[in-house]
Amino acid sequence: MPPVLESTAAPQETLYTDVISGLQETPPTIPSKYLYDSRGALLFSRICELEEYYPTRTELALTRAHAPEIAERLGAQTIVTELGTGDGRKTRILLRHLQQPATYIPVDISATQLQQSARALRREFPQLQVLPLCVDYTDCWTVPCESIEGRRVFYFPGSTIGNFKPRAARRFLTRLSAMAGPDGALVIGVDLKKEPAVLQAAYNDRHGVTAAFNLNLLRRLNRECRANFDPDCFRHRAVYQPELGRIEMRLVSTCSQQVQFPTHQFHFTKGEFIVTEHSYKFQVQDFARLSEVAHWRTRSIWIDEQQHFSLWYLTTITPHDE
Ligand code: AVI
Repeated sequence: MPPVLESTAAPQETLYTDVISGLQETPPTIPSKYLYDSRGALLFSRICELEEYYPTRTELALTRAHAPEIAERLGAQTIVTELGTGDGRKTRILLRHLQQPATYIPVDISATQLQQSARALRREFPQLQVLPLCVDYTDCWTVPCESIEGRRVFYFPGSTIGNFKPRAARRFLTRLSAMAGPDGALVIGVDLKKEPAVLQAAYNDRHGVTAAFNLNLLRRLNRECRANFDPDCFRHRAVYQPELGRIEMRLVSTCSQQVQFPTHQFHFTKGEFIVTEHSYKFQVQDFARLSEVAHWRTRSIWIDEQQHFSLWYLTTITPHDE
């Protein structure tokens, strides 16, 4: 039986209570992490293939071009902790260049996803120690790797940092630098501000995959919270809010309707909406400032020609540096 790290995190998801309290906010809001049940994860991987959704292919190209340099900067004997497991394409590029032996800790809330990807990676990288960790990394957690010698590196691709509110992003990055300790490193993908039309298209694709991804949340709530949303009475809409530098993803009620949960009932007027995700976009100087207050020093930034996406290499700021 291959080794698995034991979770040290707080108890798992509190879907029902999070949803009920979120729907009582103004505007009603549901945390975006709940978009990812198994169908949601599948639809998200289809989003990543869309022509309009530039982040994935742009980051992939940046990773291909700069992985040798990133690996060299990371050096020998690394413990790479990846937050979330996607399709693993970017991860594989990085791991292929990493000096071996190394340890790779994929962190994900989905145990099935983790097991599948860990099994495949062990086969492909026999020298690599793969230790999956099943936790909600947006929650309170630690990497129980005190007994493993090596440089602590966090890998956070995909610009998922943009799905955190600014204060939460700062708290999260600060926690990562504390967990990485002196000599720690962070490799992170960050989506950049750009023409609103490019952003609007990326989140309102013409094949309706993002719409299906968003509406799938209602089906999940019907199944797992015993709610009675009619998905045909909501439509997907993603709006770029330039003053806040973010895409707001919404489910807009197409009529006046009542939605029932076992303990609560919610009324939606026509045009009223539920916020299901924020996706913040950054200017290079914004992210440099954010990471610095979170105790990270920028070492390298790689940006594509169209200036759509950025890949960062940062190291922890120790008291000695300050
Ligand atoms: C996972 N996350 C970085 C994606 C984003 O772009 O904010 C989720 C997504 N939502 C709609 N399309 C993609």
